[in-house]
Amino acid sequence: MFKVAIDGPAGAGKSTISKIVAEKLGYQYIDTGAMYRAVTYKALKLGLDLEDEKSYDFLNDTILEVDGTKIYIDRVDVSTEIRSVEVTTNVSTPSKIGVVRTWLVDYQRKISESKNVVMDGRDIGTVVLPNADLKIYLDATPECRAKRRMIERLEKGVDISFEETLEEIKVRDHKDSTRAISPLKQADDAVYVDSSDMTIDEVVNKIISLVNERGSVKMSNVKFFEGQEVKGIINNVTKDAVYIELEGENKAVIYTNDLADYVEGQKLRDYYYEGADFKALVKQVTKDKKSNNPLYILSTKLYSAKDDIKVFEELKENDQVIEAEVVNVTRAGADLKYKEYNNIKIFLPAKNIDLSEEALYSLRKQTIEVLITFVDVEKFRVTVSHTAVMNRKARIAKAEAKAAKDAAYAKLSVGETVKGEVVSVLDFGAIVDLGEGVTGLLHRNELDHKLVRNVNDYVKVGDTVKVQIIKKEDGKLSLSKKALIDHPWDVLKEQYHVGDVFDGLVTKVIPAGLIIKLTDEYSGLMPRSEYAWLINERLDNNVKEGETITVKVMEIDSAKKRVSLSHRATLANPWGDVKARRGDVITVEIASVEEKGAKVKFQEVEGFLPVNEVTAQKRISRVDEVFPVGEKVEVSVTDCDTLRGKLVVSAKLLETKKERDEFDRYYAQQEKELPTNTIADILGDALKDKLN
Ligand code: DC
Repeated sequence: MFKVAIDGPAGAGKSTISKIVAEKLGYQYIDTGAMYRAVTYKALKLGLDLEDEKSYDFLNDTILEVDGTKIYIDRVDVSTEIRSVEVTTNVSTPSKIGVVRTWLVDYQRKISESKNVVMDGRDIGTVVLPNADLKIYLDATPECRAKRRMIERLEKGVDISFEETLEEIKVRDHKDSTRAISPLKQADDAVYVDSSDMTIDEVVNKIISLVNERGSVKMSNVKFFEGQEVKGIINNVTKDAVYIELEGENKAVIYTNDLADYVEGQKLRDYYYEGADFKALVKQVTKDKKSNNPLYILSTKLYSAKDDIKVFEELKENDQVIEAEVVNVTRAGADLKYKEYNNIKIFLPAKNIDLSEEALYSLRKQTIEVLITFVDVEKFRVTVSHTAVMNRKARIAKAEAKAAKDAAYAKLSVGETVKGEVVSVLDFGAIVDLGEGVTGLLHRNELDHKLVRNVNDYVKVGDTVKVQIIKKEDGKLSLSKKALIDHPWDVLKEQYHVGDVFDGLVTKVIPAGLIIKLTDEYSGLMPRSEYAWLINERLDNNVKEGETITVKVMEIDSAKKRVSLSHRATLANPWGDVKARRGDVITVEIASVEEKGAKVKFQEVEGFLPVNEVTAQKRISRVDEVFPVGEKVEVSVTDCDTLRGKLVVSAKLLETKKERDEFDRYYAQQEKELPTNTIADILGDALKDKLN
């Protein structure tokens, strides 16, 4: 492997030059500064004390990867973030920490082991690759470097003055070259190149010519590049390698570890024949020691991986969940295997699975469902996620639940009676689950016909309720329990009808009358005037609260929701038929005699005949001196008040009246019989006679 180490201070142009040189040579460019930046970035993000060596324990769980000019930390591309001013001003601190340097130097050495590389940094020639084939110390004056850095920043829109930039460069030079571990210094065997007055091309060409001088593969001879698909013919098969001649007489070799179908102990000659066609991918370009021409190391494993990786690209494209086997578990995550695609590395980072470390370990040898999140076509690597599968399942379940809910909702219609479960009780009502995720509001006002003050008195969580859908709008449902309960007024009307007589409970005596219970919800009023027929008969002292009284329903007023009751309507009223008026002549029967008169019977009622109203003929002290009990007597009515139950009669009055009538009749007769004695009378009589 040919290794080029390029060291130098900040702003000397190392990265620009190294990138171009690597590209021209077909080598791998490795930017070690970016690695120090990436570590700094993560430490800053974790909010750690950069000066404290213990802070860097996080490196044990850190995955650092470089891919061309991209750099990933824990599989996240941070290529842009590491160039921030914050990282730039802080990077010197982690760079002087021993554990950071050891960790990064190990990594840098490892990735340069099997490749031709151009590596730039501060300690590449001195520490990382002390045996590098070519070491360059690229320098420029601080002013020149400050100018370059300024231009570079201005292009990115960052405007920092020349003086400030120069100061920053000088501070960094000082820090980089005076630190205790791996300070920036030119290796003894490095070629010093001052780029202050050179163009980029000039510097690049100088380095390439130095590479060529040092005996690397001549650029002009390199025909195929790493990763390229090549065809050739087998020209030799040995115990552990197959030699191939590629077009243009280019030599290639493939070793058993790169043969896709090779099984340990297999004899290569049984499978590979001279003269046969051969297809593979270039794994590496080296040089043939004898001829100094390129020697291409091929791999059919990579070749099949190239096809295989397409399968994963397609799986990713289709967003397909795959079941992969967990082969190995580390703290960083798990390596998986999918079907027969052994050439593809499948990695499940720990953060992509919602499991504890132990749970993750217990997955070994088990299969797990994953979704592909990243396919690295060049490195034949795939990153997967289990969390994504879980998220997707959750999404699907949610969508299914929504569809079921919508369908269930669509089926429901206003007026329908449904059963549901109370899932929550609120101040203003209860939420009822009707199944399939459909819920409705059972408003407080819809619980009962009565005024509901506390919803909890009616329903509690877990209750099954029967409700009617009364409104359906915008995906919402209004429910009613009340709609399914008969209105208490209707219940009352079923129970009571005008004319009904019943024994009612007096719940209250009020000035207006009695309040009488009808149902739990309603009471009726019996007005005072409806107590008795006779107005002297008083309600007070006769009826008390808590007693019952027989009443008759007189009126049911649905508009006012009032019921009028009457007690007297349940009683017969003998006075109602009494038609007698003062002066009327009626016949009564003497019922009983007492000191002041006699009780007399008239129709169904009782009247009174005072003793001094019996006769004017003689003085008596008892009625039966004239009328014995049981005698029917014609009398004149002196007072009749049916509302008060009062009838007073007089026989004397009738007697006097009879006498006067007789007297009147006598006089009338006498007048008729008397002769006329005036001229007028005589003339009148004569006229009368003539007419007769
Ligand atoms: O080249 P650069 O500006 O990207 O490097 C960033 C810092 O990293 C620089 O201040 C010094 C440090 N560094 C180092 O110490 N050793 C290296 N091999 C590369 C960089």
